[in-house]
Amino acid sequence: MARTDRGGERTGTGVVAARNVSRTFFLGEPVHALRDVTLTLEEGSFTAVMGPSGSGKSTLMNLLGCLDTPDQGTIEIDGRSVGDLSGAERARLRGREIGFVFQTFNLMPRLTAAENVSLPMVFNDVVDADRRERARTLLERVGLGDRLDHAPNELSGGQRQRVAIARALANEPTLILADEPTGNLDSETGREIMDLFDELHAEGRTILMVTHERHIAERADRIVTLVDGQLERIEDVSDVVPSGPTVLDDRDAPTEPDGGEGA
Ligand SMILES: Nc1ncnc2c1ncn2[C@@H]1O[C@H](COP(=O)(O)OP(=O)(O)OP(=O)(O)O)[C@@H](O)[C@H]1O
Ligand SMILES: [Mg+2]
Repeated sequence: MARTDRGGERTGTGVVAARNVSRTFFLGEPVHALRDVTLTLEEGSFTAVMGPSGSGKSTLMNLLGCLDTPDQGTIEIDGRSVGDLSGAERARLRGREIGFVFQTFNLMPRLTAAENVSLPMVFNDVVDADRRERARTLLERVGLGDRLDHAPNELSGGQRQRVAIARALANEPTLILADEPTGNLDSETGREIMDLFDELHAEGRTILMVTHERHIAERADRIVTLVDGQLERIEDVSDVVPSGPTVLDDRDAPTEPDGGEGA
């Protein structure tokens, strides 16, 4: 059932589903980025998406987040086909209910950390005076309470990543779509970010997270693997105790032996 606890017209996203979606890009040779993918995100579920580079992970995330539309198949949010929504309804859904953490951060270079985090609040009619306070709270939550007035180029890669996560939380989204949110972080910061995602999951939000790291993916309830744009398998890992930070994916294979990272 959709969340209605925050009053107003907020209804949450409920169940989010891709049904038999395909997406082909035409740049010279057609690229079949996704082929007949069906995936349901139950409300409050935590799903990790793995797969080689170019397998369609970001494409799937963009479709589920209503940033892109499929060539075939449908995206359904709370039982409604996104294709049937007006442009304004779709924009509102994106702005209010969905929080994105992009693979490339997409921070506004001329705005400070606090201003970047405040930006999405415009969609939610948060008055100016409250925006900074909420931005401060969110940045404190990701450990950047002392970097409010830094511009992105005055922050480290990991700090930018954390600003992007704080921004994704600006409107208390019911659906969080995160594309490699720990991809640029050292293992300690990565763990902190994952603790944050665990909290968000515990709060009842629906989370879809792309990652190349098996031990990160195992913190989700299930792992979806894409290969060549097709859904290869869905594993239930809700009972799996995450392994150490050993990379089992095809990329970023560790070059040094396990350095005693702890269990
Ligand atoms: N806008 C676009 N125009 C043309 N081709 C695209 C576009 N977006 C993605 N593609 C192609 O679609 C395929 C899937 O891309 P996608 O970004 O979904 O991969 P990915 O699984 O997220 O990879 P990575 O792990 O490298 O981020 C790739 O072959 C890519 O080159
Ligand atoms: Mg990607």
